[in-house]
Amino acid sequence: MKKLLVLLVVAVFVGTAFVAVASDKGPAEVKFEVKMGNVTFNHAAHQGLVADCATCHHTGGFESCKSCHDGTKAPKSKDAFHNSCKDCHKKEGKGPTKCKECHVK
Ligand code: HEC
Ligand code: HEC
Ligand code: HEC
Ligand code: HEC
Repeated sequence: MKKLLVLLVVAVFVGTAFVAVASDKGPAEVKFEVKMGNVTFNHAAHQGLVADCATCHHTGGFESCKSCHDGTKAPKSKDAFHNSCKDCHKKEGKGPTKCKECHVK
């Protein structure tokens, strides 16, 4: 009986831990400030459009892209974003692919 209770407590604990991770969905919107025009990225909408978080968060964690994409540890963020964003929009045939559709002054 005692053993069962311990198991139950552990199960509840693990359960809450999972909920806590899943509920950190990050910012609803991210604004990239760029000289040629700021880019507004609707993160919440994209979470609905793209089934798997790992399509974008490709390293298994949820650190900011820029923490790696600084041009030394990983390709510069400009290239990483341009490739990630534009390639998917091209592939899907939906979403902006022209400079001024993303970069709005
Ligand atoms: C279409 C691409 C894309 C998808 C899909 C996506 N994200 Fe993101 N996410 C981003 C980008 C871009 C940022 C901004 C990172 C930056 O500013 O460097 C971000 C930021 C975040 C952050 C904040 C990181 C930080 O510390 O600044 C979290 C947390 C996060 N996302 C979680 C998720 C989760 C959970 C999912 C799936 C439900 C998800 N994301 C789906 C692209 C995406
Ligand atoms: C923990 C470090 C790390 C994080 C965080 C990270 N990346 Fe990367 N990324 C890399 C490394 C290293 C490479 C190069 C090796 C490879 O292709 O896997 C890469 C490659 C890429 C590439 C292909 C190379 C290119 O320039 O086309 C894209 C696109 C990309 N990352 C986008 C993103 C996006 C978008 C995010 C945030 C949602 C992100 N990465 C977060 C480390 C990271
Ligand atoms: C894996 C696929 C994928 C990636 C990666 C992706 N998008 Fe999208 N995005 C879409 C799709 C699909 C749509 C079209 C939605 C529609 O029209 O129904 C879209 C639409 C958009 C739109 C127009 C609608 C809106 O939300 O205002 C913008 C702006 C946009 N994306 C910006 C970005 C930026 C910036 C990035 C990179 C940081 C990015 N996207 C990365 C799939 C993607
Ligand atoms: C799908 C959206 C999208 C499209 C289309 C796009 N960009 Fe970008 N661009 C971004 C994002 C997101 C960043 C932010 C990168 C960062 O903060 O590192 C960016 C950054 C930049 C930067 C700034 C680099 C820096 O280091 O400050 C320049 C310059 C740029 N883009 C030029 C262009 C040109 C020219 C085109 C058209 C040929 C274009 N972009 C099309 C999303 C886009």
